[in-house]
Amino acid sequence: MKNEFHESVLVKKAIEALHIEKGSKYIDATLGNAGHTLEILNLGGMVLGIEIDPKMLEIAEGRLKTANKKDFKLVGGNFTEIDRIAKENGWYPVAGILFDLGVTNLHLKDLERGFSFGNSEAPLDMRMNPETQGVKGSDLLNVLREDQLRDLFEATMEPGAAKWISGRVMHSRMDKPIETVGDLLEISEGLKVGKPGLNEATLPFLAVRIAVNSELTNLEEVLPKAFDLIEKGGRLVVISFHSKEDVLVKNFFKEMTKVGAKQITFKPIMAEADEIGINRRARSAKMRVLEK
Ligand SMILES: C[S@@+](CC[C@H](N)C(=O)[O-])C[C@H]1O[C@@H](n2cnc3c(N)ncnc32)[C@H](O)[C@@H]1O
Repeated sequence: MKNEFHESVLVKKAIEALHIEKGSKYIDATLGNAGHTLEILNLGGMVLGIEIDPKMLEIAEGRLKTANKKDFKLVGGNFTEIDRIAKENGWYPVAGILFDLGVTNLHLKDLERGFSFGNSEAPLDMRMNPETQGVKGSDLLNVLREDQLRDLFEATMEPGAAKWISGRVMHSRMDKPIETVGDLLEISEGLKVGKPGLNEATLPFLAVRIAVNSELTNLEEVLPKAFDLIEKGGRLVVISFHSKEDVLVKNFFKEMTKVGAKQITFKPIMAEADEIGINRRARSAKMRVLEK
């Protein structure tokens, strides 16, 4: 089981925060491999799961079927359409909504999709849904102007570093178009950024992934829609993995306190050392909880 599915992060704490009640409706807006969804179902909650990536949706369907679960509906789509999806499925209002942002370990392990540096020959693709998204990571790096590239890289790094790497991209694509994971690895060589021990390519890859999948704008768009779907006393739980996301969540939650919502977490909840020991992805997870 450990390697077959995505290793879900902060499961116990997220489920506790959602206050699962038997027979109540929840939305898992980032279904992934249904790790969190399974726990909600095990406690008697009913789940509407939304997943953008058709491959992950299939894995989640298989996992829930094998576990003999009922009381759930799964929908393929972008969570920015959460309002339409919830209403079309009669899943409104709900007792809680969970966002566990980003990609799964399976995305990172898939050596053909360009999410990780494992295969330098792989196309620099990074689309979460290749069936509906037209623009790949390599396309962005080949067509954006230098100032647009700087904005793209500033999602994960300081302006100085973003300027440096944007210059490298411009230089590299004058020789030949940027096409592969290896091309971005080469461009990132010598980048001085991030915590000691962090691979120099980690932040450039993350920035390209965020841009390809509009991750920050999607999050900004969905938070108010999700809040609207929650019943009074219900909970919104968001697990994010980098600071720009966390700031969006933090500011949105603060704003919602002006309309009567209650922040359950003033500081984000993080994973304990034992979880980080088994799942490296947990080290950057930050969870915030809001009660409507
Ligand atoms: C960190 S994983 C979630 C893992 C899941 N909680 C579990 O336990 O298996 C995030 C998932 O959300 C999906 N995702 C990311 N952005 C999305 C979006 N805008 N709409 C719907 N799904 C999205 C990704 O494809 C990925 O499968």
